[in-house]
Amino acid sequence: MNDYQQFIVNIKKKTGIDLAQYKEAQMKRRLTSLYEKRGFKSFQEFFQAMETDQNLFHEFLDRMTINVSEFYRNAKRWEVLEQRILPKLFERNRRLKVWSAACSTGEEPYTLAMILSKFMPLSQVSVLATDLDENAISRAKIGIYPERSLQEVPDEVKKKFFTKEGIYYKIDEQVKGAVTFKKHNLLADPFETNYDLIVCRNVLIYFTEEAKQSLYHKFNQALRPGGILFVGSTEQIFNPLSYGFETEDTFFYRKVE
Ligand SMILES: C[S@@+](CC[C@H](N)C(=O)[O-])C[C@H]1O[C@@H](n2cnc3c(N)ncnc32)[C@H](O)[C@@H]1O
Repeated sequence: MNDYQQFIVNIKKKTGIDLAQYKEAQMKRRLTSLYEKRGFKSFQEFFQAMETDQNLFHEFLDRMTINVSEFYRNAKRWEVLEQRILPKLFERNRRLKVWSAACSTGEEPYTLAMILSKFMPLSQVSVLATDLDENAISRAKIGIYPERSLQEVPDEVKKKFFTKEGIYYKIDEQVKGAVTFKKHNLLADPFETNYDLIVCRNVLIYFTEEAKQSLYHKFNQALRPGGILFVGSTEQIFNPLSYGFETEDTFFYRKVE
């Protein structure tokens, strides 16, 4: 077993995270540059140091999870969600079960809650938001963001749901209340079922082909017939039917009924 493979085994034992399901070249590069910066010569040395140095362990987690996000990321897609996808879902069901999977620091589930509030009172909106990274979840719960996270937020939404505090923007308490955050590992934990909408964007690109394919099946099983999977703008599914989906719009897949 080589240095990296042994590291994969050690990390799985320590955290339950299976690095073998992430694209190897990319992950190895990210982690090697971190350990070299910290003065280690191998994954083995790096792992040993992590066992006693909590800060280093958190740095590792931070490096492997890649938390970049923003509100209304790829704004045109969110327009499609609002104008074409949600009206159809609401025709069938007034109470939607919605999941933002790999939600990072909260920009995505809060965007969802703000858009859903155009269809129903915000007090009735409910979004489940999950991520592997507890630090990201803690930051999401705080709900304070730098201006660059809000670049794509329409002006009227910014006025309605954000308060400027110094150089930061604080999200409205009612929007916060509409989102429930939980820790969840997409590659290891069970999925709930009967979702009307699953948003999983900009995380599948980090996974191996096998891991991705198995997730498409699991997302399909987690949706109600007619439910929608919304993926990131580089994450087109090439053969949706083989996972039980048909293309509803670019980057939106409907579970075949
Ligand atoms: C680039 S962010 C995407 C955030 C948001 N979905 C978006 O599109 O802006 C990727 C997120 O995936 C999370 N992640 C990575 N592996 C995961 C896993 N196995 N299970 C759940 N979340 C994971 C990371 O912690 C990170 O917050």
